[in-house]
Amino acid sequence: MRQHVNPLGKNFLRSFPIPALEEIFENPRLPLHLDIGCAAGDFLFDLAISSTNWNYLGIEIREKLVVNANLKITKLEKKNLFYAYGNASNIFDHSKKNILNFTNSISFYFPDPWFKKKHYKRRVIQPKLINTLSNSLKRGSLIFIKTDVRELYDYMEFTITEDKSFKKLPYSDFLYSDSFNPYKTQTPREKYVKSNELMIFESIYRKI
Ligand SMILES: C[S@@+](CC[C@H](N)C(=O)[O-])C[C@H]1O[C@@H](n2cnc3c(N)ncnc32)[C@H](O)[C@@H]1O
Repeated sequence: MRQHVNPLGKNFLRSFPIPALEEIFENPRLPLHLDIGCAAGDFLFDLAISSTNWNYLGIEIREKLVVNANLKITKLEKKNLFYAYGNASNIFDHSKKNILNFTNSISFYFPDPWFKKKHYKRRVIQPKLINTLSNSLKRGSLIFIKTDVRELYDYMEFTITEDKSFKKLPYSDFLYSDSFNPYKTQTPREKYVKSNELMIFESIYRKI
């Protein structure tokens, strides 16, 4: 399976609407967390088991990973997890009911760095997506970012804070116990980065 796909490639600009929350979750009224670029979905699977008072929705551009991940969710006791196939850059434009109105938090954890300047436009965090989030998220919703690439962190930080409706939170004050990730579960990439003693750059932003 290809490790990186060009999200601007013709095949990946198609999008499939995210189904209505009532169709995918047992209790659609629970707080909702979105994980963008969830890969094989292991992070959300662990979260869905440990935090049954949240709903989790992963969005991933590689279809095969999404199909396989959705086969696993039948093993869960509670129906609080779903994986959607699509390109985060345009998936929200195609979803009938704007899912972002019901979203409490979003994570962009270890997105593809696309190191060359001419490829920056392939990065998942783009001004257009941040503008969509800014127009549709409720006040108080949170965006979480993490990466081991300093230059990518600076780029994401700049793109998010250029939009004046997102305010960076003082990281040390943040209480994870009340968030979508109360036990600080790690993504596969985060486990790898930590085991290699590499640096992690992270921030949290609140919609004001
Ligand atoms: C480096 S992996 C990180 C996976 C996981 N978040 C982690 O921390 O282990 C980045 C993932 O984002 C996905 N991706 C890249 N661009 C995307 C886009 N525009 N929309 C949705 N997923 C995307 C890739 O296919 C890949 O699975």
